[in-house]
Amino acid sequence: MAEPQDDRFRLEPDQALIVAERFGTPAYVVGEAHFRTRIRRYRAAFQAAYADSELTFASKANSTLALIAIAHQEGCLIDTASEGEFRAALAAGVPASRCHLHGNNKSVEELAFAMGQGIGQIVVDHFDEIDAIVALSDRRACPELVLRLAPGVDPVTHAKISTGQADTKFGFNIADGSAEEATKRCLQKGLPLAGFHCHVGSQLLDPEAQISGGQLVAEFAARMARDHGFQSSILNVGGGLGIRYTDRDVPMSVEDYCAELVAAIQEALRGSGLRPRLVQEPGRSLIGESGVTLYRVGVRKMVPAKGGSRTYLSVDGGLSDNPRPALYGAKYPVERVSPASGGPEAVFTVSGKHCETDRLFEDVSLPEGTGRGDLLQVLCTGAYNSSMASNYNRYPRPTTVLLSESGEFEVVQRPETWDEMFARESIPGRLRREAVGAGN
Ligand SMILES: Cc1ncc(COP(=O)(O)O)c(C=O)c1O
Repeated sequence: MAEPQDDRFRLEPDQALIVAERFGTPAYVVGEAHFRTRIRRYRAAFQAAYADSELTFASKANSTLALIAIAHQEGCLIDTASEGEFRAALAAGVPASRCHLHGNNKSVEELAFAMGQGIGQIVVDHFDEIDAIVALSDRRACPELVLRLAPGVDPVTHAKISTGQADTKFGFNIADGSAEEATKRCLQKGLPLAGFHCHVGSQLLDPEAQISGGQLVAEFAARMARDHGFQSSILNVGGGLGIRYTDRDVPMSVEDYCAELVAAIQEALRGSGLRPRLVQEPGRSLIGESGVTLYRVGVRKMVPAKGGSRTYLSVDGGLSDNPRPALYGAKYPVERVSPASGGPEAVFTVSGKHCETDRLFEDVSLPEGTGRGDLLQVLCTGAYNSSMASNYNRYPRPTTVLLSESGEFEVVQRPETWDEMFARESIPGRLRREAVGAGN
């Protein structure tokens, strides 16, 4: 069944004014209560479907320390996809034992650091990594390992966030025998293999691919039990559940999703004797709808366009704080929050400040008088915005403000200062010589 509620976090006009006046724009604002409620609902749904289940927060969606700390407080494990994300989790106060390390090309240094810190689990992606872990295990305790599998399913989503098909850089292919080979290698080397993992894609509104991915991984685990006596104690089916970016995106309710996923896995495990712990590691569906971005409108400009004219509203952010429209053609809901919306509407193109076309949001209906000084909020920017932000055109990355459960606004990430912007750089002395002809 489709998710019945539209409860995307949004700011009230008076709250938007407070944020803009106190902290400036652009600003990411995250609703703490919203995020906590979402985690609790997902965990409860998963547990109702299968008691021995665990939720991992995919911190790539938003690795702001305060948000990782909230996910940890709410009982999530933390999925990290690099040494940097793992260090972020540690800096947020998460014990290493509660973290997992992902990555299709982990360096020996990354593995050594993670193992040295006592990471809870490594999701192994390649034979080279098995060899590296064996070598590193001489001097460090080897954590629990799970093998990432490529189950060979093709999800319905944007090609750039589709990862479970056979032609993917991620994981061990089941069909060509690599996954079985990797299992045998781990067993022969005496490694603490605990089970299997898959993640087939992201922003999946029709989660059939994830469900069949889970089923294929479970069937594989059952085959490994039968053929090699390997008893999987963990099956992780990744993240990927879509969210309601626009009214056309109708995600499945998390309760139905968990129930269907678990039923498919249990069916695949029937008769195998396996009773693994089931794990999911969503990112977007936990934090995506909990965040908004607040922008202030600057220039309003009408230009001739095909079929008539186009009116641009340029805001004080863009590609550097939200690269997803440029990367994936992602669509977002945009609302005028101050002055409060109302009255007849017109259609606008909201563009950013960057040197590309930087059309952030097209065909946006807003009150027709919208212009300089007005505040726009863009919903559903909690995931893959802050974590994908850059300093392109030397813009400092925006502030992140947390709206606490008691209604306080707290800055949890400030923009870079100008000194920090240039702190990593140096200019060789020879480049400091006067330009030819300068000073004449
Ligand atoms: C391995 C893995 N797990 C979990 C996720 C989280 O996905 P989502 O944010 O769509 O839930 C991703 C996203 O790319 C991923 O690659």
